[in-house]
Amino acid sequence: MSGVQFPDGFRLEPLRREHPRKTFRSGQAEVDNWLATRALQHQEKHLSATRALLDSRGTVAGYYTLATGQVDFSDLPEEIARRLPRRQLPVAVLAWLGVGEEFQGRGLGRLLLAKALRDCHDAGRTFAFIAVVLDCVDDNARAFYRRFDFQELPGHPYRLFLSVQRLEAMMKGD
Ligand SMILES: CC(C)(COP(=O)(O)OP(=O)(O)OC[C@H]1O[C@@H](n2cnc3c(N)ncnc32)[C@H](O)[C@@H]1OP(=O)(O)O)[C@@H](O)C(=O)NCCC(=O)NCCS
Repeated sequence: MSGVQFPDGFRLEPLRREHPRKTFRSGQAEVDNWLATRALQHQEKHLSATRALLDSRGTVAGYYTLATGQVDFSDLPEEIARRLPRRQLPVAVLAWLGVGEEFQGRGLGRLLLAKALRDCHDAGRTFAFIAVVLDCVDDNARAFYRRFDFQELPGHPYRLFLSVQRLEAMMKGD
């Protein structure tokens, strides 16, 4: 997952008003609605940052949204929590990720996830966090992320995390 290269004709850009975000359809209404109605507003308020993957016609083929957050140490698995202070701890949040239906099954979801994790890793050199956390919208999303080493937070089956140690190892290509 170290180098992330999108296929020829695709480009990744910070979400802008001109991007045709209201016609994006991933098959998951919540994922589409976020992009259509909230992603830009939240970006303008510096609450989250969204990157849109555009094809050569300028169609939005996919996107991801990153934010920051906190988890309580008591929500973490014992083997991670025991090395950490007993308080709220900083995390990177992969808030949303989606690929348009006509673009699914071509590896773009994997590449967007890899790029989102690369962004987290790079940001972590400046702003430390202990894990990347995400909330799955449904079982499909959960199955997707579980393929890529995300683990369940104990007692929260739809909240997954990737420890910063695992992220580091991934970025080194382990
Ligand atoms: C989940 C989603 C992002 C996958 O995107 P995609 O571009 O079709 O995925 P890719 O083609 O990159 O697939 C990468 C790998 O994951 C697998 N995969 C894809 N979707 C999967 C799923 N739902 N469950 C399990 N594995 C899945 C693929 O088979 C592929 O495996 P392989 O490398 O062994 O062949 C896409 O289906 C989507 O946007 N769904 C609706 C929105 C959503 O659920 N978003 C996530 C929560 S915010």
